Amino acid sequence: MSLPAQVTLVEVGPRDGLQNEAQTIPLAAKLQLIDDLAGAGHSVIEAGSFVNPKWVPQMADSEAVFAGIARRPGVRYTALTPNLQGFERAAAAGADEVAIFAAASEAFSQKNINCSIAESLQRFAPVMAAAGERGIPVRGYVSCVLGCPYEGDISPGAVAAVTGELLAMGCYEVSLGDTIGSGSAGSMQRLLDVLLAEFQPAQLAVHCHDTYGQALSNILVALQHGIATVDASVAGLGGCPYARGASGNVATEDVVYMLDGLGISTGLDLAALASAGRRICAALGRPNGSRVATALDAKSA
Ligand code: HMG
Ligand code: MG
Repeated sequence: MSLPAQVTLVEVGPRDGLQNEAQTIPLAAKLQLIDDLAGAGHSVIEAGSFVNPKWVPQMADSEAVFAGIARRPGVRYTALTPNLQGFERAAAAGADEVAIFAAASEAFSQKNINCSIAESLQRFAPVMAAAGERGIPVRGYVSCVLGCPYEGDISPGAVAAVTGELLAMGCYEVSLGDTIGSGSAGSMQRLLDVLLAEFQPAQLAVHCHDTYGQALSNILVALQHGIATVDASVAGLGGCPYARGASGNVATEDVVYMLDGLGISTGLDLAALASAGRRICAALGRPNGSRVATALDAKSA
């Protein structure tokens, strides 16, 4: 199959990237990051998460984040919502879109959202209804699509079942989370062969953590299957608090470099993106997880 001419990158750095930082991050640093990312050309930015603040303290200020965003036209500022309470918070804060998140693994569902997969789908039903009433689009996530930190291998059939439920509930797209980054080009191919027998490429996105250094090749396999929405985190920020040892998402800079090389348009300016990554890494005092940004820095030093 030919590659898509254009890819939408969903920037998850301000949420997936920052949710796992141990230190308190000043609100101003979050707002600067979101503005830098929009300035670099992002059209979708996951800016926060309306979960229980006791579970993920780093996202407790998501109301303040949404209130402080210097909104740019054409940019969707989105948020995670685990239940109706989270949805009401997100809607009041002005989120343009929300995401519900389920898992293909029972053990991960319990650890991450404190309920079974079936219970999580029941909890999402009122979120879908409330979002429908207000015209707020809902994205779905499925975690652990290529492996679970507690259960190990996950069957493509289990992923297909949850994906189908989320789409049937009205999610416009489901993002396939390789939460622990243990997938490979082969396992991604086997998963997509199963999913694309049932769903259209336009209904799917990929969300690859880069723990094993396989994210770019996994994304390339997804592109070859016609998937044209890719999640990424600037400077490779992040990790999941309920998947110990899982590193951040693939770095947005690295994905853009690969897509530029393939002649696929993203609307992103790599140099501006690298600056955004450099600034948040300096604010956090952490090394830059993007190989491309590191190479660009070495070249200009
Ligand atoms: P629970 O404790 O079972 O909830 O948590 P509950 O309904 O029993 O309520 C307990 C307390 O939480 C109550 O307060 C509620 O008001 C409060 P109390 O009466 O004790 O004072 N509460 C809330 N407060 C604020 N906002 C809310 C909310 N909901 C309940 N929305 C719950 C269940 C789902 C809320 C909890 O487990 C939770 O917040 N989990 C989120 C975990 C999380 O954020 N994980 C990381 C994001 S997922 C991820 O990173 C994966 C992804 O990137 C894809 C991938 O990589 O695979 C998306
Ligand atoms: Mg993630």
